[in-house]
Amino acid sequence: VPPTTSPIHISVLGAGRVGRALGGRWTDVGHQVAYGVRDPGDARWAELTGVATPIDAVAGADVVLVALPWTAVEPVLTGVDVGDAVVIDATNPIAAGARQLEAHPEGSGAELVARWSRSSRVVKAFNTTGSGNMIDPVYPGGTLLMPVAADDPEAKAAVMRLATEIGFDALDAGPLAAARDLEHLAALWIRLAYRLANGPDIAFALLRR
Ligand SMILES: NC(=O)c1ccc[n+]([C@@H]2O[C@H](COP(=O)([O-])OP(=O)(O)OC[C@H]3O[C@@H](n4cnc5c(N)ncnc54)[C@H](OP(=O)(O)O)[C@@H]3O)[C@@H](O)[C@H]2O)c1
Repeated sequence: VPPTTSPIHISVLGAGRVGRALGGRWTDVGHQVAYGVRDPGDARWAELTGVATPIDAVAGADVVLVALPWTAVEPVLTGVDVGDAVVIDATNPIAAGARQLEAHPEGSGAELVARWSRSSRVVKAFNTTGSGNMIDPVYPGGTLLMPVAADDPEAKAAVMRLATEIGFDALDAGPLAAARDLEHLAALWIRLAYRLANGPDIAFALLRR
């Protein structure tokens, strides 16, 4: 991955709320973003540049952001070649419409993402806050926490830079196995925002002394 001063080629798989929020922010700070979608000709993507099939969008990418519904993650990742790209797993292993994490005896959704993408450079990040906070992370009184879990130190550092560049307090949360904790933190955010009716304008921050 090039240093932060050079544009990074980022392929965003899934042009939904998370994909467009992060893709838009990274475009604004100077990175080159392509989107991988099922039907690149769909009128819904007319305002986006760099829309392609997932296979074409991933080719040559430095970073691949997985921003797909959980049920689409395995079929899409097993159908593309991510090569040496850093793979950011922003997903949560939650069925559509559900509020509970699915049970994964393997440990976490992120470890399944590593298996399905055949990559040792998977980084769990951007799953623990809402897409509205990705578009606008500015709150009074603190910087929003972005915990990042990965085994590959260079991949983790690259994703922490990408989080910092768009206004987050990036925090090393340990190895990829710790993604399970990040997925539970996401489940708590979803519970607080939607089941307990606080709404999506809430976010976690870390206090230090
Ligand atoms: N929404 C949030 O605030 C939030 C926050 C953190 C993490 N997450 C996680 O991030 C992931 C994405 O969530 P989201 O809210 O952004 O979802 P979303 O708004 O429903 O967008 C999902 C995108 O994936 C595309 N898609 C679905 N199946 C596909 C396939 N087989 N191949 C290629 N593209 C496909 C959809 O497009 P078409 O179906 O039209 O092709 C759509 O553009 C989920 O795992 C979610 O748990 C969400």
